[in-house]
Amino acid sequence: MKIAFVGTGYVGLVTGAVFAGYGYDVYCIDINSERVASLKQGSVPFYEPGLEDHVKKGLQNGNLHFTTDFKEGVDGADTVFICVGTPPLQNGEVDLSQLKSASQMVAEHLTGYTVIAIKSTVPIGVEEELEKIIEEHKPKSATYEFASVPEFLSEGTALENTMHPDRLVFGVNSQKAADVLLTTHKNISGERIVTDLRSAQMIKYAANSFLATKVSFANGVANVAEKVGANALTVLYGMGLDKRIGQAFFKPGIGFGGSCLPKDVQAFYDIAVKNGYNFDLLRAAYAMNTGQVDLTLSKVHEIVGQDLSDKKIAILGLSFKPDTDDIREAPALKIIDKLLSLGAMVQAYDPVAIPNAKKYYTNSNSDKLHFVQSVDECVNDADCLIIATEWEEFAGLDLTKAKSKMKAANLIDGRNIIDPQKAKDAGFAYIGIGRK
Ligand code: UDX
Repeated sequence: MKIAFVGTGYVGLVTGAVFAGYGYDVYCIDINSERVASLKQGSVPFYEPGLEDHVKKGLQNGNLHFTTDFKEGVDGADTVFICVGTPPLQNGEVDLSQLKSASQMVAEHLTGYTVIAIKSTVPIGVEEELEKIIEEHKPKSATYEFASVPEFLSEGTALENTMHPDRLVFGVNSQKAADVLLTTHKNISGERIVTDLRSAQMIKYAANSFLATKVSFANGVANVAEKVGANALTVLYGMGLDKRIGQAFFKPGIGFGGSCLPKDVQAFYDIAVKNGYNFDLLRAAYAMNTGQVDLTLSKVHEIVGQDLSDKKIAILGLSFKPDTDDIREAPALKIIDKLLSLGAMVQAYDPVAIPNAKKYYTNSNSDKLHFVQSVDECVNDADCLIIATEWEEFAGLDLTKAKSKMKAANLIDGRNIIDPQKAKDAGFAYIGIGRK
């Protein structure tokens, strides 16, 4: 069975590598020739545990192919998964340009009957617009059907999520398309939900919006706990033991980031409003997330003072979560931006995300931001340390050593990974999220 993936970002590359591992003949197509050239050598352009090995295996056993040529990839494929980016535009709408051009290129090389399965997160009903493009560009003899197969993989655990997902959602218009997808996914575990396209697309938006809301709820609980002198971690744990609530996605912190949660909760709110329903809960969940960054800044003032000019702040962690080098919408960078605007000096360290952070700050003229190569360098001479990402390396922070290097022993634990008592015993002024 031949399967094509258009787009070699997280979704396309991870899913393609997994399918190649199951013995399918997989073609990953990308218009970026540099990326394709390095993927052909087995070099993965982002950090995702285990992925490079998986890609190398697929290349070695001949199941995984990378190409810029749509004909090579699409011709004779049973299913073409579209996995291109759908980033937000300035006006908040979804940028469909990659989706449209990918549809045209796929259309030109369709042969026989093909299921075009959209994995990108797309506005509900977008296939109606894409159908016009396919109809205009496909060969007359070729037939096709659109399907929606939303992706639920999390960065850092993407391979595991793809091989053993909680569920597989197939939005289809016919049993024939459902059968193709059921066969394609036969090696993958998890409950199958076969539904219409719009419901499938909505499951993705609604799931990510719910996760975002759950995190914001946990942050709200933490913020109240700080005011009333309770321990938010105990409160949330006590709540989560109720099976109807659960412990997952209930960790308070400096906020959610990444390429999905912030974008999808906003997009789902916009979809609701456009269709005449004011889903205010979603707006509040997003606003509360922005508020977590402001609250972190208040904590810096509380512990270091109002005037931050030339105070040195150490930031541990730049990626939006551990085990990824992805800095999109990372709360760490939002905190750094605010600190710099208040005149503070920032020393930042991350095990893998520094190259991406340097690109993000390429046009920044600030001579007050320094990326360093170790935790020791990061805390050196600092007035305050902020833990922004819960990398395992930081949980084992040598507090005594850190204190001896810092100018002032102030610690804001933005992910609650340090034992407050141990921090205090080591001589730190400690502020966590929802606990002191
Ligand atoms: C998310 C969805 O989980 C995934 O199903 C979807 O396909 C893509 O979007 P991802 O963006 O990789 O995955 O990140 P996720 O693990 O969801 O974390 C998002 C953010 O929420 C991170 O910044 C994380 O630190 C934060 N978070 C998560 C919390 O602050 N508290 C929690 O309890 C959980």
